Amino acid sequence: MVKENTNTPKHIAIIMDGNGRWAKNKGLSRDQGHKEGKESAKEIVKTCAKIGVKNLTLFAFSTENWKRPKLEVDLLMSLLHNSLMSELKELKKNNIRLTIIGDISKIPIVISKLLKKICDETKDNNLMTLTLALSYGSRNEIINSVKNIADKVKNNIISVEKIDQSLINQHLYTRDLPDVDLMIRTSGEKRISNFLLWQSAYAELHFSDELWPDFKSEHLMSAITDYQNRERRFGKTSEQIT
Ligand code: IPE
Ligand code: IPE
Ligand code: MG
Repeated sequence: MVKENTNTPKHIAIIMDGNGRWAKNKGLSRDQGHKEGKESAKEIVKTCAKIGVKNLTLFAFSTENWKRPKLEVDLLMSLLHNSLMSELKELKKNNIRLTIIGDISKIPIVISKLLKKICDETKDNNLMTLTLALSYGSRNEIINSVKNIADKVKNNIISVEKIDQSLINQHLYTRDLPDVDLMIRTSGEKRISNFLLWQSAYAELHFSDELWPDFKSEHLMSAITDYQNRERRFGKTSEQIT
């Protein structure tokens, strides 16, 4: 049983993996897998908001995913475009704020404009922050952060001594988000694939064998129960925690 509101993770990050294999298993095209994956994303967003998760970050497209066949990339972009158009109403109705992390300059301009509009129109919503990681890669994010900080040091805006964890945090795309408490990856793969490396330094990891289109609220609940039964020690001893 999930203990609602007690020890609910403040920030859940999900690597939504397995759309292609789901489709293959059913003799369908990869496109169908991505379409079905969108349905899981919709359900998980709703459930997280309902149970009091304040921050949900979904890995929708990685910097490495640009290397996929152009046809698949185009399809993923058009799926994203359609879902954004149809989901704006839902986000507003459910008091959810949308934010984006990643290198948006690579995303087709019609989509980036729409993203900006939706982020603007939902910026005052405060039930939950939904962050979409699009054209996102943690290493790129860290490189950007280092460049920005180096620039400030060069221009005497900050001194080298001021560089600490909090300063680096402030220069990441995720500057407004808390650290990840629970990171979930579906499809049985046990890797992080360049997702929120800095922010997940002390996240609890949950690997589900479900392929993303099959991952529904009950699987999310069991991931949260698993999280709630862990002891997060942050380097301390068990005795210090209790
Ligand atoms: C995740 O499913 C969606 C994206 C990475 C965009 P995949 O497309 O990676 O599915 P598999 O891993 O091939 O099954
Ligand atoms: C990770 O999935 C990226 C997203 C879920 C968007 P991939 O399927 O691209 O990951 P790898 O390459 O197999 O690790
Ligand atoms: Mg995959």
